[in-house]
Amino acid sequence: MIASQLTIKTICAADLETLATIDADANTEPWSVDDFGHWLEEMIDHPTQFFGVLATCQMTGQPVGHATWTNHARHISLIECVVAKRWRRHGFATAILRHVAGTLTPMRNKIFALAHERNDDGLAFLLACGFKGIGTTPVDKDEADHYAMQYVHAATLPVSVVDGVTIRR
Ligand SMILES: CC(C)(COP(=O)(O)OP(=O)(O)OC[C@H]1O[C@@H](n2cnc3c(N)ncnc32)[C@H](O)[C@@H]1OP(=O)(O)O)[C@@H](O)C(=O)NCCC(=O)NCCS
Repeated sequence: MIASQLTIKTICAADLETLATIDADANTEPWSVDDFGHWLEEMIDHPTQFFGVLATCQMTGQPVGHATWTNHARHISLIECVVAKRWRRHGFATAILRHVAGTLTPMRNKIFALAHERNDDGLAFLLACGFKGIGTTPVDKDEADHYAMQYVHAATLPVSVVDGVTIRR
């Protein structure tokens, strides 16, 4: 599978079921169709602040993952970056994150993300993409911490994605 062969497009109303289906499979606290619909409304009402993309594999035509984020004066908050279980470890999330990072500017040059302390996959992924842990936030109802993670523009993304040519099996 070639991660560069990914179509990444802004989500629309026709994608809501697909987004919720991916999330139900992939996320411990999945968003519903209504949750994604609410996010889409925010995107429409605040087109420079709220963003969402759906990623589809060009080879199979299958949707593989998505990301949602918000823009702020000096940073991006990554809300979700999710890949369906059967499509993991092909570099798709890295490609999606690279798309998000591609919207950074010299002024808005950081991405913040929160990862649950027991989300080993998410933490490994964020660290592999150049995020650094910068603190903890005790926000969970079961008193688990979330790690606050920061990616600074020009931190190194995996070479495979920078070059867009590495084949991952
Ligand atoms: C985290 C997640 C998005 C990763 O998706 P993915 O498409 O499998 O990630 P990639 O293939 O781009 O992985 C890139 C690198 O991250 C690291 N990584 C990703 N998943 C990993 C795992 N389960 N264990 C160890 N390292 C992992 C590896 O270094 C990997 O490179 P490699 O495959 O060459 O070893 C996916 O597991 C997921 O959807 N999890 C649930 C949502 C979530 O936790 N999101 C992250 C916080 S926003």
